[in-house]
Amino acid sequence: MTPAEAKVKIAELRSQVARHDELYYRRAKPEITDFDYDRLKFELAGREEEFPQFASVDSPTQRVGDDRAQGFKEVAHRQKMLSLDNTYNEAEVRAFHARLVKLLETDDLRYTVEPKIDGLAVSLTYEEGELVRAVTRGKGDRGDDVTANVLTIATLPRQLAAKGGAVPRVVEIRGEIYLTQAEFDRINAERAAAGEELYANPRNVAAGSIKLLDSAEVARRQLAIVLYSLGHCEPEVVRSQDELHERLRAWRLPVVERIWRVRGIDEAWAAIGELDALRRTFAYGTDGAVVKLDDFAQQRDAGATDKAPRWAIAYKYKPDTARTRLKSITIQVGKTGILSPVAELEPVFLSLSTISRATLHNEDEIRRKDIRVGDLVEIERAGEVIPAVLRSFPEERPKGAKEFDLSAAVEGKCPVCGGKIARVEVDTESGLGAAWKCQNYDCRAQRAGRLGFFCSRRALAIDGVGEIVAAKLVELDLVRDPPDLYDVPREALATLNLGTTEEPRIFGEKNATKMVAAREAARSLPLEKWLYALSVPEVGESTARELGRRHRSFAELVDSKLLRFVLKKAELVERRELEAPASRKNPAKNDEERTRRKDLCAQLDREVAALDTGPLAGVPSEIGPAVAASALEFFAGKPGRRLLAKLNTLGIDPQGTVMETGVFTGKTLVLTGTLPTMKREEAEQKILAAGGKVSGSVSKKTSFVLAGAEAGSKLDKARELGVAVIDEAELRRLLG
Ligand code: IVH
Repeated sequence: MTPAEAKVKIAELRSQVARHDELYYRRAKPEITDFDYDRLKFELAGREEEFPQFASVDSPTQRVGDDRAQGFKEVAHRQKMLSLDNTYNEAEVRAFHARLVKLLETDDLRYTVEPKIDGLAVSLTYEEGELVRAVTRGKGDRGDDVTANVLTIATLPRQLAAKGGAVPRVVEIRGEIYLTQAEFDRINAERAAAGEELYANPRNVAAGSIKLLDSAEVARRQLAIVLYSLGHCEPEVVRSQDELHERLRAWRLPVVERIWRVRGIDEAWAAIGELDALRRTFAYGTDGAVVKLDDFAQQRDAGATDKAPRWAIAYKYKPDTARTRLKSITIQVGKTGILSPVAELEPVFLSLSTISRATLHNEDEIRRKDIRVGDLVEIERAGEVIPAVLRSFPEERPKGAKEFDLSAAVEGKCPVCGGKIARVEVDTESGLGAAWKCQNYDCRAQRAGRLGFFCSRRALAIDGVGEIVAAKLVELDLVRDPPDLYDVPREALATLNLGTTEEPRIFGEKNATKMVAAREAARSLPLEKWLYALSVPEVGESTARELGRRHRSFAELVDSKLLRFVLKKAELVERRELEAPASRKNPAKNDEERTRRKDLCAQLDREVAALDTGPLAGVPSEIGPAVAASALEFFAGKPGRRLLAKLNTLGIDPQGTVMETGVFTGKTLVLTGTLPTMKREEAEQKILAAGGKVSGSVSKKTSFVLAGAEAGSKLDKARELGVAVIDEAELRRLLG
């Protein structure tokens, strides 16, 4: 890999990691397994090591994840809350020990080994033995004050039991908030009954719950907590991890059921194995073992990096897998019409539940992994709702097992509506791939998929209409396009049977009333939400937001000058490439042609430049030619026209959030460091609302750098380039 390629790759990996951090820490809605996330991060760290010129203090490999959310007061930790380095292999656990032996100049090291709990980290402050505050890790130095929510945890004492010996004047005790499997199942059963989307795993619910602004709602979910580490403590009354565990227990705080006290790394490794055999009996989910140097004085000597202590390491267990027989492959049709293969399995018990279906991703994956009907397969479940098929065992294959051919399996037509299918290109986890797609926009599966999406939290948040309810409404022909939902009478909803005639499951009065209220509330949501909710091809959440900021209404969007401008510019640029005399595809044949084409290119350059300085310039990258073409085509076509006509009849006319002019119109700002009172998101929102753009890196085009405490390389860069630097006070002044 050349440095130039590495630079691009590193930027790409950083943005992927940042996206998954956001999903995990802030939204508690991860899209990939921890294992895959760790893989991404390892790859990034590897490249940064190989190409140190691109390393940066801002890289996710150098920071702890940020869990802060809006609506909470921020509080500084007295002692920083660090993360843990983690590994999946024994050699690295041994290397950890070897480093400490060298650093501390002794090979007689004692460790504790304890479960790594899969929950959400918090720090509790007890003053004079009384619980005064609970704060999330945040970004390590400061986090969100979630005291009110933590106080709903029934098993957490407000007062440290004095029997535990001298109670420190001030002590920060760290631990993990979690949800038991039983409570998780109870909440999901309740949601299923109400037709709501199911939660993926206990960790996400715990993390999501602690960030709810309504403590009464938090109290309805029985969160639990377990404590395992010490922050600031005055006076210092504890000398080792082992002693801490005893103290916590004596103070009557909930602690892990077992810790191993060991000498040397061989014993530590053995304890890791013992813990693996035991951990599934614990009330909380565990995903690893934490090995900690026992002696606090030695811990201090070993020290820490910005991100993690050198005296501890987390060994992560591989996700659970099981073997079973693949009985058949069925095909599901999603909201965009893509046909996805699903493995129907001989039921098998894995990670606390019985699994009989698993995803096979797509046809290419099936081929790559050489999976055939009748095969013995290995399946994995890693905290996701849908388990996945990992591999097959061709050596044990029954005779005559044929390769799977998706198109043949569905006899060349959509398995739901019988309509035409076509080969299309799709994004997959491993890059671009091919898939089959149902071409019928009115296919029942696509309609149900779109309706479910329309009602989902990220779209119009019409609670109560999950996958099952959506499918039912479509099946009964009560809804064709999502907005038809407004025509379904409350009474019809109340008596809707989601089960079968033999085993009815009625949607019910209460749910129907809630849903009607939610759909009414959605009427006044802004254009960006509606645009996203209507499943316009190519229009994702951030694209919808940018479009919503630049159009006043659907009427303006369908005839968008801006979108036509984007297409026009793309056309010119493409033509310019083709006409370049040295174009690889189309090189000029002689001098005469070369001169003619050079002139033409100069002319095209002028036209592009004119567009770039015109009134429509500065279109964000989210609105590219593919988006422009797709949106214009969609609303000019039958489905789009039908949707808009319906909204018109319903009297729904969502408004865009166009700003005429703000103080920052046409300006780009870069944020760095910690602001004294404003959170980063808040500052960003204010800048956006004043017409500005926020960018992640400083260049000559940057208008201002907004700098706070501990601003890093971006501030240096701004000074180097002579970009104006402002602080929070100045920002407030500019915003008026
Ligand atoms: S000790 C300075 N012990 O795992 C190190 N952390 O992936 C303090 N975690 O941020 C952490 N179980 O939230 C420690 N037994 C345990 C743990 C544990 C879970 C969490 C903790 C940490 C994260 C790192």
